[in-house]
Parts: sequence; C-alpha cells; structure tokens
Amino acid sequence: MLTETILPSLKKSSYDILSIPLKGNESIKNLETFIFLENELLPFIDRQTTLIAIGGGAIGDVVGFSASILLRGIPWIYLPTTLLSQVDSSIGGKTAINSAFGKNLIGSFHFPSLVVTDTAFLKTLSKKQIASGLVELTKHALIQDKNLFDALEQDYAKILTDMNLLPSYISKSIKLKVKIIGQDWFEKDQGTRQYLNLGHTFAHAFESITKNGNSLLHGEAVSLGLCAAYDLAVQQNICCAQDRDRVKNYLNSINMPTHYQGLLFSDRAQEFFKMDKKKKGEEMTFILPKGIGNGCHLFSISHANTQEIFSLFSVN
Ligand SMILES: NC(=O)c1ccc[n+]([C@@H]2O[C@H](COP(=O)([O-])OP(=O)(O)OC[C@H]3O[C@@H](n4cnc5c(N)ncnc54)[C@H](O)[C@@H]3O)[C@@H](O)[C@H]2O)c1
Ligand SMILES: [Zn+2]
Repeated sequence: MLTETILPSLKKSSYDILSIPLKGNESIKNLETFIFLENELLPFIDRQTTLIAIGGGAIGDVVGFSASILLRGIPWIYLPTTLLSQVDSSIGGKTAINSAFGKNLIGSFHFPSLVVTDTAFLKTLSKKQIASGLVELTKHALIQDKNLFDALEQDYAKILTDMNLLPSYISKSIKLKVKIIGQDWFEKDQGTRQYLNLGHTFAHAFESITKNGNSLLHGEAVSLGLCAAYDLAVQQNICCAQDRDRVKNYLNSINMPTHYQGLLFSDRAQEFFKMDKKKKGEEMTFILPKGIGNGCHLFSISHANTQEIFSLFSVN
C-alpha cells in the first residue's frame, strides 16, 4: 500500500517529498533512530516541514518524538497501520523512545495535526498482531464501558477472523480514549487520564525484562499486566474475583498470555518497577480496576513493600 499507493500519490503532489524507510518494531524506539532521523532530515527541513509517520505504534512513537524536538517542534501526520496503533497509540499525543532504564522514559506530548486511520492496512497483520491490538481496545472497555466488554466477549472469535467487524470496534475505542484524554490533555492531574495506564506499570517492566530474549508484543505485555492488575485489585478488595476471572478467560480466549508470575519475580523486575513514570520518590502507584467498565483506583505503595504484596496476590 505504501509503495503502490501512498508514495506515488504524495509524489504527484506539489510538495517536495523525502521518504525515509525505517524498520517498524520496538527495536527502533531509541536515541540511535532519533540521531539517524536527525542526520537524514536536518539538511532538508524547516519549520514548515511536516513529518508523516506510516506504521505501527513504534514508528508513530519515534517519528512523533523526533517531530517534537527537531527545530523545537514541527508538525506531524500519522497513518497508523496496526490495530493497536489505530485504537490506541495514534490518539493522545504521547510520543516516546525507550531508555536502558526502561520503556518510554524519554518522550513528549506532541499531538499529530492529522491521523488517517484506514482499516485496509490491517489486512496484512497476523492474527497475533490483531489480538495484541484487541488487548488495548479491551483495556478501554475495562476502564469505562461494560457494554463494550460484553460485546467483545461475544464477538472476539468473529473479530479475529472477519475484518468487517473491526471498523465499528475501532471507532468505539477511539471515542472512549478521546473522551478520557479530553479531560486532561497533558496528563497533568491525578484523574481519569491515568486510568489509561491500567496494567502498564507491570507491562512496561515485563517488556523491558524480555526485550533481548523472547520479546513480547506490546499487547501481550499488556495482557499480562492486566492480569496482574486484576489479581492485585482482587487482593485489595477493589474488584471481585468473578470480574477478574471473566477478564482472564477472555484474554485466554483471544490467545493472549495470562501467566505473568515468572516475570514478576524475575531478578530485573524490581529495577524496572522502580523506574515507572508514576513513581513519587519511593512510592509507586498502580492503576487498579474497580471491576469491569467501572473506572479505576490509584493504589500507592512504597517500593520496599512491593515484593511482599506481590507474593500475596500472585499465587497461581
Ligand atoms: N504513544 C502512545 O500513546 C502509545 C500507546 C500504546 C502503545 N504505544 C507503543 O506502541 C508500540 C506498539 O505498537 P504496535 O503494536 O503497532 O507494534 P509495532 O509498531 O512494533 O508493530 C508490530 C509489527 O507489525 C508490523 N506492521 C506494522 N504495520 C503492519 C501491517 N499493516 N501489516 C503487517 N505488519 C505490520 C511492524 O513492522 C512490526 O513488526 C509500543 O512501543 C508501545 O509502547 C504507544
Ligand atoms: Zn499500551
């Protein structure tokens, strides 16, 4: 689609087009890619230049981040090409690259001027990538839309095989995320925008631990993170066990992983938890679900107590 349709059509326009191919996966979310883009771009751009990112969440994050700091900020447009990037990462203006200290620790808020979401891109995704995107879509339902979760539970098998069902689910997910970020564009307060991080304190640590071995897709890491967050919520009496079990069964049904215990107690987990962006000094905050579609609770504990608390909830 890129080489057959998008590039030729851009090149026919009156704009000067420079195209820079990048590998599109997690391994490019780093300073080296930024420096590569800086070298490719600075000789040619001015503040009227617009970057166009075409790819999944990794491409969106690194190109958006580069746009936010080159010449103190130039506009960018995003064409998300994975389900995950269409339902989640293209919305909300967060850009980031990873650091040796953890995931997404270098970044900015820099909203794209335009997002073009075309489901034709999704035809070439594997089932696993679709399921990975479905996890973030499900996260939006778990935070604030029980009816959507009920529908996903009914339809997941069809969604994974029939592309025609996707557009209405994508649009629901986008609307839910926009509703939340519209209350707090730059995540300045302690309110509902933080709910979007449901499962992510765990997920980011799991991704950082596994990045050089059996690396996880982002949705797989979030699936594990959601399971850990639901287990902790049940242990803290914030959520009932039935809701937790429903969510885990659903994640199992879409073939996303649910057993996180090996990662939670791995040697490096603690150092990555310590680097979470929501920490305040020695205190860590976990976003825990109050059931299904019923909002979240911000649960803070001192870092020194995490091992003890983790050993209480992660028994199976
Ligand atoms: N900025 C945000 O708000 C935000 C939100 C959620 C996730 N993210 C980030 O997004 C990233 C995950 O995004 P992702 O799941 O899109 O992964 P990804 O960008 O790593 O892409 C996954 C794989 O799909 C391939 N791919 C992309 N489009 C394709 C297509 N149309 N057909 C076939 N293959 C295709 C890529 O080359 C890559 O191998 C993570 O780094 C995560 O941190 C950011
Ligand atoms: Zn995510």
